[in-house]
Amino acid sequence: MATPTLEKAGTAAQDASPYITVTFRIRRFNPEVSAEATWQDFEVEIDPKERVLDGLHKIKWDLDGTLTFRRSCAHGICGSDAMRINGRNRLACKTLIKDINPAKPITVEPIKGLTVLKDLVVDMEPFFQAYRDVMPFLITKGNEPTRERLQSAEDRERFDDTTKCILCAACTSSCPVFWNDGQYFGPAAIVNAHRFIFDSRDEAGEQRLEILNDKDGVWRCRTTFNCTDACPRGIEVTKAIQEVKRALITRRF
Ligand code: SF4
Ligand code: F3S
Ligand code: FES
Repeated sequence: MATPTLEKAGTAAQDASPYITVTFRIRRFNPEVSAEATWQDFEVEIDPKERVLDGLHKIKWDLDGTLTFRRSCAHGICGSDAMRINGRNRLACKTLIKDINPAKPITVEPIKGLTVLKDLVVDMEPFFQAYRDVMPFLITKGNEPTRERLQSAEDRERFDDTTKCILCAACTSSCPVFWNDGQYFGPAAIVNAHRFIFDSRDEAGEQRLEILNDKDGVWRCRTTFNCTDACPRGIEVTKAIQEVKRALITRRF
């Protein structure tokens, strides 16, 4: 297949242009066309200070409108554009071209372990089902309070790291245990359980621990740290999983 090319209009000032030509090698899949996924190259003129998401936009808007991927905020907040870039899970909107050796083709694939629906879009439902299963909301007993529920700064600090999750699935889809059969709850669900288990205001920690004591719960984690390496929010994912394991053994949280 001929490589589509996108070039900036030439001008006398072009010599000073920061633009370089980068090859995006993208995993394409359209179940309405073929049961097989294929690689397709696109050449794009891009400023190395731009992001992989900008390159994908240039391709979609100017070269091939059928290219399909998710994105929303474009600023690392919504978690919708996690993908495998040069073999590593990252957010396309937070990955600068200059940081990933643009001299070589940049490979872009869907995240692993979830069914690919089209191009870079995967079915996130199993991921969100595991999230729902850990009851990711504050559970309390008794009457509605008439004022805010107070918490010390130290108690708030206890689960601060796991509040940062944006549910991008970069962790779960980088976990070899999850790749194996997709039944493991996965690190993201455990991170979000941790956020409530260690919240001093919450009263359903025991319930959540029991949910994660399941054969597909925390004990399947093999401490491989892929999840921690993949997290675009810098959450210490493996540490959070270890803390949940410890809480299950000691019943202290
Ligand atoms: Fe994404 Fe990190 Fe949350 Fe996992 S823990 S879903 S990698 S933000
Ligand atoms: Fe998987 Fe992370 Fe454990 S990659 S095996 S959940 S440390
Ligand atoms: Fe929202 Fe990248 S588009 S996190």
